[in-house]
Amino acid sequence: MVAIPTETVYGLAGNIYSEKAVKKIFSLKQRPFFNPLIVHLSSPDQLHKVVDSVPDKAKKLAERFWPGPLTLILKKKPEVPDLVTSGKDTVAVRVPNHPVALELLRKLDFPLAAPSANPFGSISPTQSSHVANYFQDKLSMVLEGGACEKGIESTIVGFEGDEPVLYRLGSITVEAISKEIGPIVVRNKKDAAPEAPGMLARHYAPNTTTVVVEDVPQFIAEHPGLKIGVLLFQNPLEARNIRAQEVLSRQGRLDEAASRLYAALHRLDELGLDMIVAEKFPNTGMGKAINDRLQRATKK
Ligand code: TXA
Ligand code: MG
Repeated sequence: MVAIPTETVYGLAGNIYSEKAVKKIFSLKQRPFFNPLIVHLSSPDQLHKVVDSVPDKAKKLAERFWPGPLTLILKKKPEVPDLVTSGKDTVAVRVPNHPVALELLRKLDFPLAAPSANPFGSISPTQSSHVANYFQDKLSMVLEGGACEKGIESTIVGFEGDEPVLYRLGSITVEAISKEIGPIVVRNKKDAAPEAPGMLARHYAPNTTTVVVEDVPQFIAEHPGLKIGVLLFQNPLEARNIRAQEVLSRQGRLDEAASRLYAALHRLDELGLDMIVAEKFPNTGMGKAINDRLQRATKK
């Protein structure tokens, strides 16, 4: 088991065929066994090793987006261990677009199971230091790959019959997926037994109480005496009684904001604040995934 960089977030990776490695991933993450892992392949032509048949729309998406931040849920081959898929008859697969991850995968003759390299429910890591801080000496190695370019997890697409369903908003926008394969149902599940447990209501959460509001200055004015840190899209605030502020994209670019979101949350979370107050982002393109993660960060 070793932590690896990907273009989305760092992952805790192990040989999918090694029970020992996969069990170690679950135990280090304190992840429940009902929550399956994503299988990472070195290239799209490795897909036949883990799945039997691929719907046409999945083929289209794979051709367009791999290597890249798209995870496909497909019917699995019997060879894929139940431990990896939590006993489901499907497997989640993607080809990551990061030179270090790809170089490693090409050297191995097995795919890597890799969930995000954070304890269950915590903010995902977008830098090697986040991973090292989380696991300290319980993890012997983090492959250095710099800051993750995308900064938000892969978009997950599965199929119900022939119908494509988007199970997790991620680094590829709903709009971009629809452009390839037409309209897609977005199943934004928040209940306790979700289709994709990345959709659990409380996920990606800082330890500090976090709220998302439309009007940050108003919220601050109404809460004097609280140590507040703010997370903003584009425009810095002048308010005096803020302890820290993170502005994610001065140019107002949602992709840049996404790439900086988790690192900003990690920094704010380390300051011993009473509260993190995040601004609601424009709800289009990558803004949807950002708002989704912020909403989940507010749940305790
Ligand atoms: O960007 C990413 O996808 C990162 C990097 C490391 O690749 N990985 C990641 O893994 O986010 P993880 O384990 O944090 O999230 C994987 C999500 C979970 O919500 C899991 O429930 C869902 O994928 N998943 C995995 N296999 C599934 C399956 N067979 N059916 C439905 N959902 C599945
Ligand atoms: Mg995760």
